[in-house]
Amino acid sequence: AELDNTRTGRSGSLASPPAHFDVTQKIDVNPPKGTRDFPPEEMRLRSWLFQNFREVSQLFGFEEVDFPVLESEALFIRKAGEEIRDQLYCFEDRGNRRVALRPELTPSLARLVIQKGKSVSLPLKWFAIGQCWRYERMTRGRRREHYQWNMDIIGVPNVAAEAELIFSIVTFFKRIGITASDVGFKVSSRKVLQEVLRRYSVPENLFGRVCVVIDKLEKIPIDDIKKELRSAELSEEAVEELLQILSVKSLTKLEEKLGSSVEALADLKQLFSLAEKYGYSEWIQFDASIVRGLAYYTGIVFEGFDREGKLRAICGGGRYDRLLSTFGGDDIPACGFGFGDAVIVELLKERGLVPDLSPQVQNIVCSLDQDLQGAASLVAARLREKGQSVDLVLENKPLKWVFKRAARINAQRLIIVGSEEWQKGMVGVKILSSGEQYEIKVDELE
Ligand code: HAM
Repeated sequence: AELDNTRTGRSGSLASPPAHFDVTQKIDVNPPKGTRDFPPEEMRLRSWLFQNFREVSQLFGFEEVDFPVLESEALFIRKAGEEIRDQLYCFEDRGNRRVALRPELTPSLARLVIQKGKSVSLPLKWFAIGQCWRYERMTRGRRREHYQWNMDIIGVPNVAAEAELIFSIVTFFKRIGITASDVGFKVSSRKVLQEVLRRYSVPENLFGRVCVVIDKLEKIPIDDIKKELRSAELSEEAVEELLQILSVKSLTKLEEKLGSSVEALADLKQLFSLAEKYGYSEWIQFDASIVRGLAYYTGIVFEGFDREGKLRAICGGGRYDRLLSTFGGDDIPACGFGFGDAVIVELLKERGLVPDLSPQVQNIVCSLDQDLQGAASLVAARLREKGQSVDLVLENKPLKWVFKRAARINAQRLIIVGSEEWQKGMVGVKILSSGEQYEIKVDELE
């Protein structure tokens, strides 16, 4: 109810705020609870992270896409009782449409794939980096807005796609200095559960709901889980069998329990064999308890975790071959993952791996005299034309101030426009790392 802001604000025009606003009151300078500002130092870290997301995605031949942050609420409503549904930031807009801030990117991606229809040739390999909103209980690494890096492959039915996706995350980790001793991936397949449910004749339409309940295993008491499963029409015996299967941690044991002919086993074996070929076997392990909390996954599911067990899931994903038909489209096999920007930063901090990201500018240009401000602008313009970055001192400031600023912004060169030199078409240059000083013609600056 807290989120359900149906007040449209129509009673007041844009010029006059609603009566309950006290416009004379000082505003709270903190951003809304659970959200972040990105002042320059935070923004540098975010840009560095996104740059790595982007470069890895491009290394794997993926194209970048994006969707609106505001979507129709209906896109996110699924019947399975997911947590994400209760966390939706949703409201009615001024045109009485139910809308929501996206809690994830996958439904929007599915919408766009359906909209594009036959005009696109499969497979699609798409990546996105976007802000998502969830009204979460705040814990370490979980907030009410986060950015998510997604990579999705649409149109490939076999696990070669999942293997490629996991390798792209491994590549990302390696690139930022995180190793297989820091993190790993727990992998399973929802077909394991599907097989158990089939054996106990549980109707297929309950599959998503059962998965969502099981995902809560570590969050709520086991008796509540059992109760929920029984209310999803599972017999006592089926519940016990399901819970037993979830404790399996090896494929050999899984084969003993389910037999060698089940699809889940074939998929998982192939995935582990591909991981060996790629050379990332040490990063992945089978763990039947991995189910994931979103109803739409149908096959392989995986989750990135920190080996010290201190942090929430770093990333998660899986196969969702039947999502498109839930929106009225024709199903196309698909899989992908979401990787948040919060837990990874916690991990980098823990490991001392946050890079030193200081501001960088090539030149700082100043004039020694108010009358030469125009000349300094001209010098700055020439340098920028040549592709050089310039911080132009916009007011008449003493040199001491300029040196201080140059140090703060890590400028490489100080360019001083003084009247004597300027009359000769020259400027003074100081290389700030070495202290070397000289005069040079403006046209020869580069
Ligand atoms: P998800 O498991 O709900 O999956 O989220 C993926 C990742 O987003 C999480 O592992 C975490 O890194 C980050 N994340 C989620 N919620 C929060 C939060 N409140 N604060 C900080 N980080 C968060 C999905 O969203 C799927 N749509 C992923 C996917 C893409 N599956 C297929 N394609």
